[in-house]
Amino acid sequence: MTNEIKERVFSGVQPSGSLHIGNYLGAIKNFVEVQNKFDSIFCIVDLHAITVWQDPEILGENIIEVAAAYIASGIDPDKATIFVQSQIPAHAELAWILNCVSRIGWLNRMTQFKEKAGKNREKVSVGLYVYPNLMASDILLYHANLVPVGDDQKQHLEITRDIAQKFNNDFGRVNENEFFPLPEPMILPVASRVMSLRDGEKKMSKSDSSEMTRIEFSDENDLIVKKIAKAKTDPLPMPSAIKELNERPEINNLINIYSAFSGEKIEEVINKFEGKKLSEFKSDLCDVVINEMEPIRFRFKELKNDKTYLKKILHDGMLKAKEKSDPIINEVKSIVGLG
Ligand code: TYM
Repeated sequence: MTNEIKERVFSGVQPSGSLHIGNYLGAIKNFVEVQNKFDSIFCIVDLHAITVWQDPEILGENIIEVAAAYIASGIDPDKATIFVQSQIPAHAELAWILNCVSRIGWLNRMTQFKEKAGKNREKVSVGLYVYPNLMASDILLYHANLVPVGDDQKQHLEITRDIAQKFNNDFGRVNENEFFPLPEPMILPVASRVMSLRDGEKKMSKSDSSEMTRIEFSDENDLIVKKIAKAKTDPLPMPSAIKELNERPEINNLINIYSAFSGEKIEEVINKFEGKKLSEFKSDLCDVVINEMEPIRFRFKELKNDKTYLKKILHDGMLKAKEKSDPIINEVKSIVGLG
């Protein structure tokens, strides 16, 4: 039945802290592109956020912030579906069914779990461990084929495909009757992994304790300038060839950010700044970042204060998401023999 929808996009962002240019360049900017071509669904994944403790007072604000960031960045609620994950109970229902399809051995290989749990493995939540099954549920619940994400989500897409395939096999839904399509990640060639401004080996992250590591949606221009001025680099001159970047993670990161914001290829950026001072490069980097982020920030701040509007968008989005997911969860239950 629902397989006649060929190209559907699904992606999500966790409301777990301040959004930054890593989220923007790695994911949200791509959402804006794809909404014109595909049936697009962009979720605010609050059930994922609570796999790590969230202050209940702040979680609601963070949900509104992600909605504001989506729309401020250019997602059009008339074109795309924007909604909150916990408002569609079928995400959790399907996740349970997929918990019974997914294998412990697969989860044990997840590098993101290993990184997040660290030495604390015995003390983190069970939710954090089965997080990839919930993510598979998000995507498969809509029979999405395409998933725009940053590079860090690649492995979660692989396990989603494994789960889909096993479900199809276990329930005799392979070949022409394949029930779940196997989704493909859409990862941009530039800035799919934006690194911390203070450490070129570490991903820019919402959860880093230092705000100086990231440029946030709400940062004023002077703060952006300060963060870029203080961004870590090395003592060498500006690079003259792309191969130098492999050994120079910090400047590599800044050049990637420049390239993503300016639309110029990495080679072009290298040629432009070869022989120039680092301070000149950093000053131009501030310009390209501010040029794109300033209007987004204005709109973001305006929208955050218009909760009535955002809640209406999220309510309408929930209705659209329900209409798309109801037939799929019902069919899953019938395939599995439930109810
Ligand atoms: P989250 O909330 O950590 O990040 C949201 C999106 O931003 C991307 N991203 C980055 N891209 C480049 N550089 C960075 N430093 C950077 N940091 C984050 C992420 O790759 C992501 O695309 N598991 C997901 C949320 C999720 C989801 C889904 C995504 C839940 N269900 C279904 C797609 C489909 C996550 O933690 O994203």
